Amino acid sequence: MPYARVNGTMLYYREAGEGRLAVFIHGFPLDHSMWLDQLAGLAHVRRCVAVDLRGFGRSDPVVEPALSMEVFADDVAELIEALGSDSADVVGLSMGGYVALALWELRPAVVRTLTLADTRAAADGPEARRKRQETIDRVLDRGREAMAAEVMQSLLAPGPTAQVQARLRSMVEGTRYETIVAALLGMRDRPDRTHLLSTISVPALVVGGEQDQSTPPSQMRAMAQAIPGARTVIVPGAGHLSPMERPSEVNEALIELFEGRKVVWWRPEP
Ligand code: MLT
Repeated sequence: MPYARVNGTMLYYREAGEGRLAVFIHGFPLDHSMWLDQLAGLAHVRRCVAVDLRGFGRSDPVVEPALSMEVFADDVAELIEALGSDSADVVGLSMGGYVALALWELRPAVVRTLTLADTRAAADGPEARRKRQETIDRVLDRGREAMAAEVMQSLLAPGPTAQVQARLRSMVEGTRYETIVAALLGMRDRPDRTHLLSTISVPALVVGGEQDQSTPPSQMRAMAQAIPGARTVIVPGAGHLSPMERPSEVNEALIELFEGRKVVWWRPEP
């Protein structure tokens, strides 16, 4: 089983392919399996590793009351080393993007390229901070099922396939309560990293969903503009979870970033 012991905890990861390493960091309250389409679609260009962050998925349970983005970033840096690499193409979605930015701040040398998907650099404002506590209270009171129903409404573009809904529900309902609480507190207290965007000196890609209500295209474009030379891809018909909702478009953008070339798709004659 692919586990790595890092920073006093055991992290689970799933891998596909070989060659240069690419590490995929999931959002909240999800796990490595949100990246299964990327593992399948990018294994011919990279050794793709999708990790379960500390406390999530099949990684060790946590006892910490709060999980900071810095701790997650440190775990990812150690994982990259444990996998025998000096650096990796780092891809983070939403909370995974907060972690990727913390990684850029704390351990920039391990970041070969940086992809920020459906995420933000700013900290939570007062309203968002208050909502974190409300979410904790609601989850403890009414359970993960209530959270899953809410997340399916808010994170996916209208008309999601049954398969995408089912995958999302499995992830949300499979996340431990103590992890949900600790990660919500960690996200609530994360610092503003907007000032870091202009320091990003590796090839960067910003991916957003055209119908993402949480991190809308205007925000993603503004973030990309602050990163020197970053490319922006707004994925048509996707919500907040573009890698699951529109995997081909996201994979194409990632190949272009990793390989520095345009992807030419072969289509059979009609
Ligand atoms: C996520 O998808 O990771 C969350 O929307 C992040 C957040 O709650 O800020």
